[in-house]
Amino acid sequence: MFSFKNMPLGKKLFLQILCCFSLIGISSQTPSHYSFDVRETQYRRLCSTKSILTVNGKFPGPTIRVHKGDTIFVDVYNKGNYNITLHWHGVKQIRNPWTDGPAYITQCPIQPGKKFRQKLVFSTEEGTIWWHAHSDWARATVHGAIYVYPTNNTPYPFPKPHAEIPIIFGEWWMSDVNRLFTEFMETGGSPNVSDALTINGQPGDLFPCSMSETFKLNVEQGKTYHLRVVNAAMNLILFFTVSQHNLTVVGADGMYTKQLTRDFLCISPGQTMDVLLHANQKPSHYYLAARAYSTGVGVAFDNTTTTARVEYSGNYTPPSSSSLPSLPNFNDTQAAFDFITSLRGLHERYPRPVPINITTQIVTTISINTLPCPNGKTCLGPNGTIFSASMNNISFQTPNVDILKAYYYHINGVYKKGFPRFPPFLFNFTGDFLPLTLNVPKERTKVNVLNYGATVEIVFQGTNVVSGIDHPMHLHGFSFHVVGYGIGNFNRSKDPMKYNLVDPPFLNTVIVPVNGWTAIRFVATNPGVWFMHCHLERHQAWGMETVFIVKNGKNANETLPPPPPDMPQC
Ligand code: C2O
Ligand code: CU
Repeated sequence: MFSFKNMPLGKKLFLQILCCFSLIGISSQTPSHYSFDVRETQYRRLCSTKSILTVNGKFPGPTIRVHKGDTIFVDVYNKGNYNITLHWHGVKQIRNPWTDGPAYITQCPIQPGKKFRQKLVFSTEEGTIWWHAHSDWARATVHGAIYVYPTNNTPYPFPKPHAEIPIIFGEWWMSDVNRLFTEFMETGGSPNVSDALTINGQPGDLFPCSMSETFKLNVEQGKTYHLRVVNAAMNLILFFTVSQHNLTVVGADGMYTKQLTRDFLCISPGQTMDVLLHANQKPSHYYLAARAYSTGVGVAFDNTTTTARVEYSGNYTPPSSSSLPSLPNFNDTQAAFDFITSLRGLHERYPRPVPINITTQIVTTISINTLPCPNGKTCLGPNGTIFSASMNNISFQTPNVDILKAYYYHINGVYKKGFPRFPPFLFNFTGDFLPLTLNVPKERTKVNVLNYGATVEIVFQGTNVVSGIDHPMHLHGFSFHVVGYGIGNFNRSKDPMKYNLVDPPFLNTVIVPVNGWTAIRFVATNPGVWFMHCHLERHQAWGMETVFIVKNGKNANETLPPPPPDMPQC
């Protein structure tokens, strides 16, 4: 065997230097082409085996590695049994909505046996983002991370970490997720909660038949590790922490942030974070643990804890059992709100002026709703109704031809313009007792049309209709400045004075606090069709979403190019 130990020092150094260079060499050459085979694969978790949909047989799926500004291609081949689409969450896809992915918004699904070559156009993204299925509930198992490295020769805005480690949170159901989806959509009820949370596909030490496969972070004392954190859970905002270690956030949603050091973090589905972990404790084993942050009164959720182990190298006797770190209570809004409102953009290094003159002002409620049960049916929503959800009282109806195609080819009758820019009724949105007449939304396919270059402000107003809860709102095609948050009803004359227009974080998914509001701003310089939705999967299934159509600008580089030749057909 080749041994490093018995070599003369000079040679050792030389080899180490060589190793370093080749490592840099590897990271600076990333593939421009990926092949994603979507197929059923057998996986065993929680002592039982089931078939799940995967990419290339992997759960979580393969990691995509690129450099800032790259354009790459992913050949998606559907070898599964039902329709699927893939989305590149956080990739702005400038002038390229065609391969963005949300089913019936920008494309028809890829049918079993069919292929689609998807182009990924990276621009300002840097750090960690991710990809996931964007049809029905396939994203439960079809997802993976995207690492965006700085362009060659540009350093990170923090000391270069010793190594990078993925931390992908997920949810595991022992039953078939596709069946679960069809069932709750048919009964009008709420989906069964998951049986376990996972870290990189593993529930961890607290679950049966799991301990031997618990994910391990192998660290050396004195070194710093770059955690690439993705919350791929379907329905849960999470708190996470590492026993006796602090965590330093240096990036969120594919954009660096000011460093924020805390003993726990809060991350919503759809969000990603770049986090530094300093291995500065005495060599031992420590738990990384995550569990839900959930505020809906009477809303069932998976209240289990997932764990991974931070294992220091060296000679020591590991404790026979490590103690679990403490996390905020499940409904600790103060803890969550403190954390999310502390994130700041790194505007010194990435100056990106916040739009000041707003041309398009939108205020939209985001609500859980109910629809009456049709005669002769039994429905499992609240008081025998059907669960629904809405923005400005419109529960989005997904068409059966994609909106992008309808827009590009002027096909009538697929969608309507005129998504309301203000709530249709004014009431005490966050009041405790609301009239039941507010429960029922309208079902429509209404889109928001924006002029190229419009400066847009959106205020998301949470409501207590049916049940108030935090909502992680996500916008495709853009990152936005999060200029303000508040508890209670948004006040148009007072609240904007407290906006942060100096160093707001630049995100693609933002938490709207329970019984509160969040304000974002962006400039509509990306022509095309862009989905906006709650990233809690059940709310999206119930209609908490809308679509932006951004019109072409005047110049050739401001217009939507024609579709690729292999667009999937409905
Ligand atoms: Cu993470 Cu519409 O997506
Ligand atoms: Cu929601």
